[in-house]
Amino acid sequence: MCGIVGYIGEQEACQILVDGLKKLEYRGYDSAGVALLNENGIDVRKSVGKLKALECALENCVPRGHLGIGHTRWATHGRPSDENAHPHSDCTGKLTVVHNGIIENYMALKERLVSEGHEFKSETDTEVAAHLVESYYNGDLAEAVRKAARDMEGSFALVIIATDEPDKIVAARRHSPLVIGLGKGENYLASDVAAFLKHTRKVLFADDDTLAVITRDGVTLTDLNGNVVEKAAQTIEWDAAMAERGGYEHFMLKEIHEQPRALRETMRGRLAPDKDFIELPGINLTEDEIKKIDRIIMIACGTAYHASMAGKYAIEQLCRIPVEIDVASELRYRDPIVDDRTLGIVISQSGETLDTVVGLREVKEKGAKIVAITNVVGSMAARESDGVLYTYAGPEIAVASTKAYTTQLMVLYLIAMYFAQVRGTISPQRAAELRQALWDLPQLAEVILNDYQSVIAAADRYYCFNGFLYMARGINLASALEGALKIKEISYMHAEGYAAGEMKHGPIAMIDPTFVTVAVTVQSKTYDKMLGNIREVKARAGEVIAIAYNGDTGIKDYADRVIYIPQTEEIFSPALVAIPLQLMAYFVAHNRGPAIDQPRNLAKTVTVE
Ligand code: G6P
Repeated sequence: MCGIVGYIGEQEACQILVDGLKKLEYRGYDSAGVALLNENGIDVRKSVGKLKALECALENCVPRGHLGIGHTRWATHGRPSDENAHPHSDCTGKLTVVHNGIIENYMALKERLVSEGHEFKSETDTEVAAHLVESYYNGDLAEAVRKAARDMEGSFALVIIATDEPDKIVAARRHSPLVIGLGKGENYLASDVAAFLKHTRKVLFADDDTLAVITRDGVTLTDLNGNVVEKAAQTIEWDAAMAERGGYEHFMLKEIHEQPRALRETMRGRLAPDKDFIELPGINLTEDEIKKIDRIIMIACGTAYHASMAGKYAIEQLCRIPVEIDVASELRYRDPIVDDRTLGIVISQSGETLDTVVGLREVKEKGAKIVAITNVVGSMAARESDGVLYTYAGPEIAVASTKAYTTQLMVLYLIAMYFAQVRGTISPQRAAELRQALWDLPQLAEVILNDYQSVIAAADRYYCFNGFLYMARGINLASALEGALKIKEISYMHAEGYAAGEMKHGPIAMIDPTFVTVAVTVQSKTYDKMLGNIREVKARAGEVIAIAYNGDTGIKDYADRVIYIPQTEEIFSPALVAIPLQLMAYFVAHNRGPAIDQPRNLAKTVTVE
């Protein structure tokens, strides 16, 4: 997601900020900007595009100042443009902010501020923060930011400077990263240490709901009520490349670990424990339009196609609307039956996969409304659809998709529950149970990620086997296919995903002692049938790893190894099953040695047919 930098000290700040932003490029961005404070006020420069564009804009007249903030923007509200790029200022131009995160209640805050006479120049949620601080500013910047932070719901790392207080940078954070670098007579701040590692390795990690006042000579931390918070400095040992990956060896592992956060971000503003309904404003369909839908066609490629497989189960089960799923490259050649009661759902991390976009156009031309599920604001899929539901996974850098997949599942679950709510196809009590289970999902993902020794041990045993077979039934067929795809993508091993009921129609012939079968056994209705399939594999000297729910001790009598995950509702289980399968692929590949983040022959986004 967005990258933030800040500097206060003896040196001219501009180059330090631009250098810091370069170190944050890996986070992905579509525009960049800096703001420098000097005796003339705050000099803001920003431009859409890569940092090169910003550097060109700075070339002939470098803004001066010993205090400044900078930002790379990954659009979440409002398309990538010069106006939407950060920094953003208040009405007076005396306060300037950069922000990372999503201010969930920004519409309500904006309405309040507009009614108070504030004028907005951009479509961003960030500009709301600038005006909100302005509305509270009374000569004490820290206090105004504390008040504004208390009003804001969602996630933010907010950094702000003010012409009337030229000796400080004020920052506040909740759920979004912010780290302070401690120098001598100078201090830094950034989204991660990579930005200032060449200047200092001494850092302070601010906790959630903390406010920092940073001057040349020190840092004061308080909570949002102004109580001083003590926090010990730490010394970072990582090298620069490691710092970009948050201390992980590969982006893929980092992104696997980001899933609880990404799932939470994707739920934010749509599902809340204190609300007995789901809100999906971006979907842009009236209740009447939702009631009219008599068929859904999902269009996707690769991992996104596997998400559509699970989405089909969830929507059919909860809403009783027939769902067709199509690999996008096939859709256009089969002349699908579409009319104005059809809804097309396009799923694409990048929003730029050409086959998917062509499929979108095909279905749209035939009269369907289109909703896109994508991770990239302003992408082709987003622009060409009638409604857009973003997955707030943040940029995915590893070619093998992980957090994009689970957040796509999350959006599909939200759609299924939203449609069920509008069409009245599930009881209020069932809806409440499902909302609670979905709300709990990120925390269950955390449980898996806190201890996955059993996955590492399995990868250590099986990485030199001849192949992997993934079998499952029902909604977890999607998991089987996705698990096999992950192994293929990054370890170049033979792997297949199969419906367990089809084993006897072919795959069972491959079973021998060098072939390992991963069996997903979390479906209650088909549990006994899965045990039968496991027995058949074992009878042919194959080894079996079961992915089972905590508490299923009986499964140990059938499988050679068991990887346990916490229980959830059956339709949500693919989002949890995915995690050990991603980790398995990662550690198998790690043992075998290929370049995990950039596997041979693959591209992150396929823009040719
Ligand atoms: C490529 C990527 C996959 C991805 C697929 C669809 O094959 O390597 O990880 O699932 O494209 O990409 P999209 O951006 O449309 O989700």
